[in-house]
Amino acid sequence: TSSSAGLEQGFLQCFQAILGKSTTSELIFTKSSSSYESLLNSSIRNARFLNSSVPKPNLIVTPDSLFQIQVALLCSKKNGLQVRVRSGGHDYEGLSYVSHLPFIIIDLLNLRSITINMDEESAWVQSGATVGELYYAIAKKSKVHGFPAGSCSTIGVGGHLSGGGFGTVFRKYGLASDNVIDAQIIDVNGKILNRTLMGEDLFWAIRGGGGSSFGVITAWKIKLVHVPSTVTVFDVSRTLDQGATDLFHKWQTVAPKLPAELFLHTVVGVSNSASHGGKTVVVSFTGLYLGTAENLLPLMRNNFPELGLQHNNFTQMTWIKSVLYFAGYSIDESLEVLLRKNQTSSSFKAKSDYVKEAIPLVGLEGLWKMLLLENSPLLIFTPYGGIMSEISESEIPFPHRKGNLYGIQYSVNLVSNEEAPNHLDWIRRLYEYLEPFVSKLPRQAYFNYRDLDLGVNQGNSGYENAKSWGLKYFNENFERLALVKSRVDPGNFFRDEQSIPPL
Ligand code: FDA
Repeated sequence: TSSSAGLEQGFLQCFQAILGKSTTSELIFTKSSSSYESLLNSSIRNARFLNSSVPKPNLIVTPDSLFQIQVALLCSKKNGLQVRVRSGGHDYEGLSYVSHLPFIIIDLLNLRSITINMDEESAWVQSGATVGELYYAIAKKSKVHGFPAGSCSTIGVGGHLSGGGFGTVFRKYGLASDNVIDAQIIDVNGKILNRTLMGEDLFWAIRGGGGSSFGVITAWKIKLVHVPSTVTVFDVSRTLDQGATDLFHKWQTVAPKLPAELFLHTVVGVSNSASHGGKTVVVSFTGLYLGTAENLLPLMRNNFPELGLQHNNFTQMTWIKSVLYFAGYSIDESLEVLLRKNQTSSSFKAKSDYVKEAIPLVGLEGLWKMLLLENSPLLIFTPYGGIMSEISESEIPFPHRKGNLYGIQYSVNLVSNEEAPNHLDWIRRLYEYLEPFVSKLPRQAYFNYRDLDLGVNQGNSGYENAKSWGLKYFNENFERLALVKSRVDPGNFFRDEQSIPPL
């Protein structure tokens, strides 16, 4: 619209007046710039939001200095443009690059340096880096250090560490957010703040409460963790005919009680291959043990003999090779695959739940029936326990700690625009089906698996409305997040569909 074009002009003038016209041409991309579309799409990780009907930003700014971010914030505020901050672009609902108001994207793709201090066993990581780049940088310095974050190597550090972040070693070391020791953020007034300057309340809020409500997080200081020089991986699958139901039933109570060094998750899908004798549910039991195969064997035999694991099910490797493995690469690939930026993405919808009591056999049978109605359902069941049960629910905003057996992520491929409504309907029915078996009052959800079905801000609809999703993501930490928001951004400049409103 013309008014939106006016805001855009105003922004450009403001930006160029401060930074000069010649420098800004490589920093700002308008809809008429030839690389606007490729830049916009470069880190969209849910193809659902590639659609031409999805609103696009008026401008994309790609700062390579903190000062440019300060100027972008100032000029957005002055011109009434919304700001979306994008790091890795993996947001499930596209909130880092979609808004229904005139908006700009501050894309941090040029701010991706990683500085490791081996003496201190710490690192400063800029938000635009991916977790793959971080794992790679650590591996180049040490074979016995690592960092506990997500499995997919293209996830951005900016969003991931501000919303929790778990992976295959989180039962031993906690979440990515649990291992943040300092941060750098630019607040609504354009001030650059570290932990001391931002205060402990804001530092608490951005480690799990999401960055997008509080400012632009430009870097994190993290604590590296010690990993053993040899780890062991395994992956076995069972169909329903092969006893998958009983095994899964048992897995529910076994996996959360295993030693913290042993991560054993299940991935449940549907196979239609002739080798499985037609359409069936397949449960994969995939594990990572922080130790040798020799030590793993008795652990599995004592705790989960029904799975029948033998020595030949195990593959020993270095920790960084296990990172490749869980990122979906062959362990024979070179580590450089962790630096890859683009991956083809599908169009998907995902939801999450937490389970505190094992789902009974009849519940599982009903669940399998639901799955068999879909072509490509994918459910990932992540066991909790270990250190996750020892960290208090209020240590950081992420509240899902003691008392959870496991978390569930369920997702479905939406295939095409025409087919999307059917698949969306299916996943929402699955969510209804699971209600009796999952956490209640509130029914909890994982913030980093963002789900707009849980509710959205409408205009400045406020705290009471936001409780519908806020309590699910943050439980009793939600009120405290809203109080921090009131202090640091009372005017609610940094907002999106599920940002924390001021109280
Ligand atoms: P993106 O850039 O989209 O940002 C996400 C949100 O954070 C947005 O609201 C954005 O505005 C805000 N934000 C981003 N950078 C910011 C900054 N610098 N300052 C302030 N706000 C900022 N999770 C997990 O825990 N374990 C896992 O193994 C996986 N695996 C996984 C695989 C795949 C394929 C996807 C698509 C997602 C995951 N996730 C995950 C979920 C992931 O943790 C979540 O989507 C993160 O928020 C992604 O962070 P990005 O920086 O990539 O996202």
